[in-house]
Amino acid sequence: MPHIVIISASVRIGRNSHRVALYFKKFLEEQKTATCEILDLTTYNFPVFHERLQHQDSPSTEVLEFANKIKTSDGVIIVTPEYNGGYPASLKNVVDLLYPEWRRKPIAIATASDGSFGGAQVITSLQFSLWKIRAWTVPAMFPVPKVQNSFDQEGNPADKAVTDKRATGFINELLWCMEANKRMAK
Ligand SMILES: Cc1cc2nc3c(=O)[nH]c(=O)nc-3n(C[C@H](O)[C@H](O)[C@H](O)COP(=O)(O)O)c2cc1C
Repeated sequence: MPHIVIISASVRIGRNSHRVALYFKKFLEEQKTATCEILDLTTYNFPVFHERLQHQDSPSTEVLEFANKIKTSDGVIIVTPEYNGGYPASLKNVVDLLYPEWRRKPIAIATASDGSFGGAQVITSLQFSLWKIRAWTVPAMFPVPKVQNSFDQEGNPADKAVTDKRATGFINELLWCMEANKRMAK
């Protein structure tokens, strides 16, 4: 079974977008199409970027572990909030940290905000950074408006039928790219 890692990007005190990461984990487990785990940037608590991993003399075990989880995954879901029209520093921190690990990695981007637009403005800047670093961003969106009302703290959606339908389309695009990647690697 393919393996997907979910990067939960918000490290804000009282964050709400983590609910979306919890939801995707449950959804993938229910669907049984992939194994998955959440890489929580709050738990990793990385220092502000000082050098790329490949140029660090003595990287921490946490950095090495994170890099290995990205490298060995078949696909990535990034769950990011929108801050002032962009993505949070915590996420740029790990985008810049790695390099070969991102190459051709299928990445699906889910965005969240407490307003009506679901963090959709994040897409352009994040997609550009991931394109620059030679990742493979999947052409699918999963904007979550009013995130605090759309999911409870455990990641259960307020409207499961509608949310699961949207998630199916989003995840199917990611799975397609993961399969294409696997076949090209043969
Ligand atoms: C510094 C900061 C900037 C924000 N900027 C925006 C914004 O540009 N657009 C928006 O829709 N919401 C914005 N918000 C509201 C967030 O979408 C909302 O707090 C959401 O819950 C963020 O995810 P989080 O709770 O995981 O941090 C901002 C919040 C913060 C803390």
